[in-house]
Amino acid sequence: MPGDPQPRALLLRTRDELVERRAQKVAARLGAQALLVTAPPGQQAGGEPVGLLVELELEGAVETIAVWRQARPDLAIVGYLSTPEPQVWAAAESAGADGVTTRGRADRELERVITDRLSGARAARRLRALDYRDVAGRLGFVGLLVDTPVGDIALFHVGNAVHAVSARCPHAGADLCHGEVEGDVVTCPRHGSQFRVSDGERVRGPADLGLASFATVVESGVVYVELPDPAGER
Ligand code: FES
Repeated sequence: MPGDPQPRALLLRTRDELVERRAQKVAARLGAQALLVTAPPGQQAGGEPVGLLVELELEGAVETIAVWRQARPDLAIVGYLSTPEPQVWAAAESAGADGVTTRGRADRELERVITDRLSGARAARRLRALDYRDVAGRLGFVGLLVDTPVGDIALFHVGNAVHAVSARCPHAGADLCHGEVEGDVVTCPRHGSQFRVSDGERVRGPADLGLASFATVVESGVVYVELPDPAGER
């Protein structure tokens, strides 16, 4: 009927029947239709896409995320893995996935990301950090966000991913932007504590604690840092 809102589509690229059944329940709760991805953006049948769930073990899965992200910056995209594989995980995030999770949590993460997107809450918790093309040829420390609600955040480019961690050493507050970076480990310039920039884990003291770490996402060539949900969801 003319004037009717376009139906919503929840897109799935998976061969896993259990995940598909669970995603269909998510779709029903969101008033959407769950559909397998059968064509690139623009040619995909169905209604207005609100979410995309991708099984990352499938061939070309990361490319699927990149193509849809480029075409649909507002689409909620979640990748999942049956076996945690850090490189694939990082590649999916770099390609633009809003979240990467395990198979058992795939439907819940997808619903959470879509709900956030639809409510605008996710946008409110997101800080624009830098243009990815500006850091593509540089490794190590690449940027600093000052005076955020969670303090200063340092950005490190390692491999194909930009990682965001607290910029202050938890030992005595030294500025980690000036620390040496080797692999994905930054060394505090004051007393030598070491931290993994990919997840903030402490590698070596004297610091007793690790660094706060924050999710990053690349959308349309822009790197965003996602601040923790005040409700503690992530
Ligand atoms: S201030 Fe970083 S190790 Fe002491």
